[in-house]
Amino acid sequence: MRIMPAGPERAAELSRLHALSFDKPWSAAEIEALIGGAGAFALVAGESSPPDSITGMILARRLFEEAEILTLAVAPQARRQGVGQGLTLACADLLRGAGVQSLFLEAGVDNPAALALYQACGFVEAGRRRDYYDRGGRKVDAVVMRLDLNTGRP
Ligand SMILES: CC(C)(COP(=O)(O)OP(=O)(O)OC[C@H]1O[C@@H](n2cnc3c(N)ncnc32)[C@H](O)[C@@H]1OP(=O)(O)O)[C@@H](O)C(=O)NCCC(=O)NCCS
Repeated sequence: MRIMPAGPERAAELSRLHALSFDKPWSAAEIEALIGGAGAFALVAGESSPPDSITGMILARRLFEEAEILTLAVAPQARRQGVGQGLTLACADLLRGAGVQSLFLEAGVDNPAALALYQACGFVEAGRRRDYYDRGGRKVDAVVMRLDLNTGRP
């Protein structure tokens, strides 16, 4: 597996991958605007460089000494092979190297795969946001997680 940066020109591919993982997919235009925004970047996973097909993506945004993961998605057929963990750790490494102290994210309490993955990467719960997600009319709380890039694993 190779992990590499992806620019706004790959927004259409990233949008297709995002749609395989989320009920409310982000359009290519939304992803292009996000990646093009201040402090934001995308990393993708694939088998070749440049990748013929992308098996995973992570979008993150830095704001001074903090950063947040905006989204993480792995193609259904590529899951449980370390792609999500590889992308999360590569993102953390990149931010640590740039002097960022803390990396945050939100995950639904109903998303055990994501919660387990982030715990495996060293994230710890930092709080909860009540009724943060709307799953077709059903409200779901979010867990806010934080990775200390100085002392946390890896
Ligand atoms: C969550 C997601 C990104 C995980 O990606 P992945 O590539 O399958 O994860 P990895 O293979 O790197 O898993 C690393 C570890 O996380 C944990 N984990 C991952 N998926 C899991 C699952 N379905 N159930 C339990 N633990 C899981 C395990 O500890 C795993 O290690 P192991 O396989 O050695 O047991 C993927 O399931 C996905 O795209 N889901 C839909 C989108 C989503 O929910 N994104 C996160 C939004 S916050």
